[in-house]
Amino acid sequence: MEIIICPDAERVGEVAAAVVARVAVAVGPSVVLGVATGSSPLALYENLAKRVAAGTLDLSDAQAFALDEYVGLPAGHPESYAEVIRRTVTEPLKLDPARVHVPDGRSEGLSGAGQRYEDAIAAAGGVDVQILGVGANGHIGFNEPGSSLASRTRVKTLSQRTRDDNARFFDSVDQVPTHCITQGIGTILAARHLVLVATGAAKADAVVGLVEGPVTSMCPASALQLHRFATVVCDEPAAAKLALADYYRQCFDEQLDWQKLDV
Ligand code: GLP
Repeated sequence: MEIIICPDAERVGEVAAAVVARVAVAVGPSVVLGVATGSSPLALYENLAKRVAAGTLDLSDAQAFALDEYVGLPAGHPESYAEVIRRTVTEPLKLDPARVHVPDGRSEGLSGAGQRYEDAIAAAGGVDVQILGVGANGHIGFNEPGSSLASRTRVKTLSQRTRDDNARFFDSVDQVPTHCITQGIGTILAARHLVLVATGAAKADAVVGLVEGPVTSMCPASALQLHRFATVVCDEPAAAKLALADYYRQCFDEQLDWQKLDV
């Protein structure tokens, strides 16, 4: 795992975008992106949008797959992840809306929705680079602690902590859906590159768990330790509990020329 510690959240966005852009340029315009909701990747998306506007990154033929969706929100609900992805990813990155996919959280046909999503990812040839945030409890996507490390896209029950954390987007916690449909940890691990961003002191426990803790379903993000090409980009407050922080800084400072990012 590659760990990059940045002075602040803005720099996290710039550096993480450089990692994503490097994969996207190597793959070409038909790259398949995995995209996440949440506040953590917003600076990353803004930086990618600048690259698209400047013409250094072409995503005109790209596909994108979102990690997760709430179950049961009406179509067009502003906090549905379909809408969040449209506002924060599809429009700023000038993606073709027809090529942006979000799990189907409508109540009808829900039992087959996970497999249909897996099939759609497979038909696209798999995800080239998956962008991730991390929940304060170590969740990725909506894979709460206890999720199987081999899980695939399926319906899950949201933990009370996640519903409380996400209540800020709704009028009250009672309006936060109780269920979600999320890519599994096995689905996420099947992407060819993973880029996880984490900022702020509230993520320090999750970051130390995922980077230096045991691989355990109690911290779903720790599954990234099993991936060949995983990069974690975090700011100083999120990195505060890492035992090997100095070593990670040394690795970044001593990168060989061909390893250096175009930040
Ligand atoms: C949500 C999303 C996750 C996201 C997490 C952290 O529950 N399902 O994909 O990583 O929250 O969100 P934030 O980045 O706003 O802290």
